[in-house]
Amino acid sequence: MQNSIPNLSSILGRQVLIGVGGGIAAYKICELVSALAKAGAEVRVILTGSAQQFITPLTFATLSRHPAFTDQDFWQPTHGRPLHIQLGEWAEVLVIAPLTAQTLGKLAHGLADNLLTNTVLASTCPVLLAPAMNRKMWQQIAVQRNWQQVLTDPRFHGIAPRVGMLACDVPNQLPDQDLNSWQQVAGRMAEPEQIRAQVESLLHTQGQRDLTNYHLLLSAGGTREYFDPVRFIGNPSTGKMGIALATAAVHRGARVTFVHGPIHPELMATLPPVAAVAITSAAEMHQTMLQHFAQANIIIMAAAVADVRPQDCHTEKLPKRSLPSSLALEPIPDIVAELGKLKQPHQKLIGFAAQTGNILAPALRKLEEKQLDAIVANPIDQPQAGFGSETNQAIFLDRQGRNWEINRCSKLQLAHHLFDFLSSLS
Ligand code: C5P
Repeated sequence: MQNSIPNLSSILGRQVLIGVGGGIAAYKICELVSALAKAGAEVRVILTGSAQQFITPLTFATLSRHPAFTDQDFWQPTHGRPLHIQLGEWAEVLVIAPLTAQTLGKLAHGLADNLLTNTVLASTCPVLLAPAMNRKMWQQIAVQRNWQQVLTDPRFHGIAPRVGMLACDVPNQLPDQDLNSWQQVAGRMAEPEQIRAQVESLLHTQGQRDLTNYHLLLSAGGTREYFDPVRFIGNPSTGKMGIALATAAVHRGARVTFVHGPIHPELMATLPPVAAVAITSAAEMHQTMLQHFAQANIIIMAAAVADVRPQDCHTEKLPKRSLPSSLALEPIPDIVAELGKLKQPHQKLIGFAAQTGNILAPALRKLEEKQLDAIVANPIDQPQAGFGSETNQAIFLDRQGRNWEINRCSKLQLAHHLFDFLSSLS
């Protein structure tokens, strides 16, 4: 039985309000406005006074095909309803990017002294914040306090700054310790396409937090089974699907515990606020999943866990000449199958089945054998699907015989499809 699947691909006609702050990253918001407008979204832009020092309203008016708003418009006498009320009611999602320390401080304290901050207070839609600033500014205790404070409000969603070079860096003049921190301390605004993906996710939720009372325990990434300190049996999993699931779940109001194998730091920086536990081996993942299992009411095992491990692990790196010509392997206990046995009636357990060839029959067998409530049959031999790619495709199956076939879409869209599927799990 194939049920109807909501169409997530279109943002046609959706109303996105973008507040641009006074930072050099303002120029990148042109790309965001252009991409959203080209995809058919209705885009309106508000520029703060300092944003206009970097970029003009004309640029945004041209890209959004609509006049851009400034504080001058805010203070104009009007015969209609005040502009900030109209814009606040109009917006389905409000994005503030780049978010400056100043605007962040105002939001954290509920202050409103310009069109943008008044519109925030006059609206109820989800607000996506993408800060960008000098890394010393971002690290200030007061700024971090404001950031944590603002994120306690469920309306606000943060897309934290990334590590990378900033316009205020002078690379060949940086002393060594600064070069070091350059690689470690964030400040750079998230890329426009990352912001756009989050906007689409928030448009999908429409501000509804249907997972508010849920605690999701989610495993992600791949495990590594070492046989000496540098060599291991692993797999190409990057953790992208897991991060997409965490993002969709957080946008829908869930509390998330994210148990993950090694994930690239740049990708980890895109993780929304969750409790993250880093592990390396399947044994560590096993132990961590058991530890958190009882507190969770949805458990999604998206990790690519190794099935076998070397019998021996040498503490010293083996010289090339001593490398064995074959490895003695031992099986690894199936974590999700063990969780299936421990599962209580209030808990839903979901597995992934990465398959080549015929994906349905093996997935159905795993659904049964591992006592899962649902399984994501995931073809990894299709173009732009599976490990490491930005997009994915899948068939969702449950024990009632429901079967949703999801065509290739972004991993974030696939994640929302999965939560939609799970919401009607009996
Ligand atoms: O049997 P197969 O490895 O294909 O099943 C995949 C599912 O089982 C995934 O949800 C994966 O996270 C889980 N798994 C596990 N423990 C293992 C191997 C796989 O929980 N040792």
